[in-house]
Amino acid sequence: MKIFLDSSDISEIKLINKSGLIDGITTNPSLLAKQEGNFKKILKTIATEVKGPISAEVTATHSNKMIEEAKILQKIAKNIVIKIPLTLDGLIACKYLTSKKFKVNVTLCFSPSQALLAAKAGATFISPFIGRLDDVGENGVQLIQDIKTIYKNYNLKTEILAASIRSLDHVRQVMQIGADVITIPPKIFGDLYRHELTDKGLESFLSDWKKSGKQIS
Ligand code: G3P
Repeated sequence: MKIFLDSSDISEIKLINKSGLIDGITTNPSLLAKQEGNFKKILKTIATEVKGPISAEVTATHSNKMIEEAKILQKIAKNIVIKIPLTLDGLIACKYLTSKKFKVNVTLCFSPSQALLAAKAGATFISPFIGRLDDVGENGVQLIQDIKTIYKNYNLKTEILAASIRSLDHVRQVMQIGADVITIPPKIFGDLYRHELTDKGLESFLSDWKKSGKQIS
């Protein structure tokens, strides 16, 4: 499973990327809007720091304009993936762009039929937003399972990128289903490796070792 960070914050990205475990980045207009400075420079810095796919989203709503914006975003770096919302115009733009070898992440997916259409439009990634479905009383994780089944039924190659992740429990469920990619907010990255019993266990191992006076040398 690939792990992407859902962030536009360069210092946060650099810090976590030191682990060598980050396979890509997803940004969106809300995340980029929070950052000071030129958004192209921010995306360029992110795309240089992390070698994998970096999703950058169009903000136009008409397909022709989305395609124009995609061309501008693609010039920022080779590893930019164009993020396009799941509207009819978005699907039209996706179909065109993927026919021209652009990589496209179709975002704001909330239903199995939307995911099917995105795959038919050649999407490289589909981004179902599971936390936002939970917010409205639906089962976000179930959507990942539904899409997994549908893509398997029809041998569709679009990668399932689980987004809008809010908890470690989301991560566990999405891993069990077998999503291809998960994009996590930086604050959840720490939860992936921290465990109280790991800390306690380490503390007692080290204290016993120190008391023994032995050394690895
Ligand atoms: O990747 C999508 C993500 O940025 C949305 O997350 O928590 O705002 O629903 P959230």
